[in-house]
Amino acid sequence: MQRVYLINFLIVLFVAFCLPAFGGNAKIGEMKFKMNCKQCHGPAGMGMASFPKVSGKDVEYTKDRLKKYRAGEEIGPNSALMIMIAKSLSDKDIENLAAYLEKAKR
Ligand code: HEC
Repeated sequence: MQRVYLINFLIVLFVAFCLPAFGGNAKIGEMKFKMNCKQCHGPAGMGMASFPKVSGKDVEYTKDRLKKYRAGEEIGPNSALMIMIAKSLSDKDIENLAAYLEKAKR
């Protein structure tokens, strides 16, 4: 009996340890945002002048936008700027940024 408990415990621990590997890490996304995005989209992605607000949107929405820009797709009149930025983002960067932006608040 003891042994079964131990194995279950180890499985739970293992799963908990692996979970952050799926989905985005908002903390890492925040760091990336502050370095690469804040100068245009403003603190916490609130938007600034002609730069759109990017926070508070669905993870899927943000991921979709960033992947389209990365693929060079034009979305709005100023896509050229975002295409240039998105080119250097990895899938993981996009996951992390989207996770951060969904809940980002100032
Ligand atoms: C040089 C300024 C600039 C920087 C830096 C920048 N963006 Fe943008 N971003 C824009 C502009 C301008 C648009 C609107 C583009 C268009 O017209 O399609 C935009 C659009 C977006 C959109 C789509 C918004 C929507 O709802 O359609 C997302 C998401 C986004 N940016 C995320 C980011 C992230 C994440 C970063 C950092 C990796 C970043 N941006 C860095 C200027 C910038």
